[in-house]
Amino acid sequence: MFEFNGGDIISIKQFDRDDLEHISEVAASMEIYAQGKETNDLLKGKILATVFFEPSTRTRLSFESAMARLGGKVISTADMVKFSSVTKGESLPDTGRIIGGYADAIAMRHPVKGSVAELAEGSLVPVLNAGDGPGQHPTQALLDLYTIKKEFGNVDGLKVALVGDLKYGRTVHSLAEMLIHYDVEFYFVAPEELKMPASITEEINTAGKKVTEIEKIEDCISDIDVLYDTRIQKERFDDHNVYERLKNVYQIGNKMLESAKETMILMHPLPRVDEILPEVDNNKRARYFEQAINGVPVRMALLALVLGKVK
Ligand code: NCD
Repeated sequence: MFEFNGGDIISIKQFDRDDLEHISEVAASMEIYAQGKETNDLLKGKILATVFFEPSTRTRLSFESAMARLGGKVISTADMVKFSSVTKGESLPDTGRIIGGYADAIAMRHPVKGSVAELAEGSLVPVLNAGDGPGQHPTQALLDLYTIKKEFGNVDGLKVALVGDLKYGRTVHSLAEMLIHYDVEFYFVAPEELKMPASITEEINTAGKKVTEIEKIEDCISDIDVLYDTRIQKERFDDHNVYERLKNVYQIGNKMLESAKETMILMHPLPRVDEILPEVDNNKRARYFEQAINGVPVRMALLALVLGKVK
């Protein structure tokens, strides 16, 4: 079991199945406070620093909301890229050491894979990875798990398709590595250029799970329980022409969803661009807005755990 108290959350790989179950249980206990139905002062007197070197709406604000809902406070800079001392050449461990002197925990996002771990090396307080380039996005995977559990109760036995930019999408990297702990069958749906990194596919094979790699959603839609769609990650392409060619490779509309199981749910970490048509928002299978809202109880749970306020 992971030692949550004082621990960093850098990669989903640091958790075993018991840890994942525990986080979901604590998140469920936070639900009434996340919704503002009751108040809770568990983190009164604690400060979270949000340190974002990349754009964010959901991740940053749900971390900040989570802290506020537990009676804590948030400090942050308007724009780390423009206004922090990193632009003067300060190293990430130094920045971590300093920010950790002003806060009790740090939530950080950065465009470079491995950079959050680097900052955590210098920090004396827990650091939570809010996305490191094409690397990991562990807190997103945890809220994805929470969303799936809320829907189905159980994760074992589900068939899950991950769709879109599986090469650069950090959410699907963390999600796939997390679902290894469950009895899940995978479909990876991506064009050749955006396939899941071989290292992750190998991990899944080694864990004895079935994974089928295909290029068309239509080839799995009637078989799956969860369709997890993702944005083509424009900002990570070296060649803009490749992005232009692939950006609309998948477009999910109501018509396509007609061939899905009655109980199938459609998830997406958001933001979406054109890969899910607005007409789908009222489809009974759409869960992406609820999914985003689940970020609050899950991040409340993580903050309470790493700050040692919940065992
Ligand atoms: C994702 C991210 O930042 O990786 N968004 C999020 O955190 N909900 C997905 C994306 O940007 O496409």
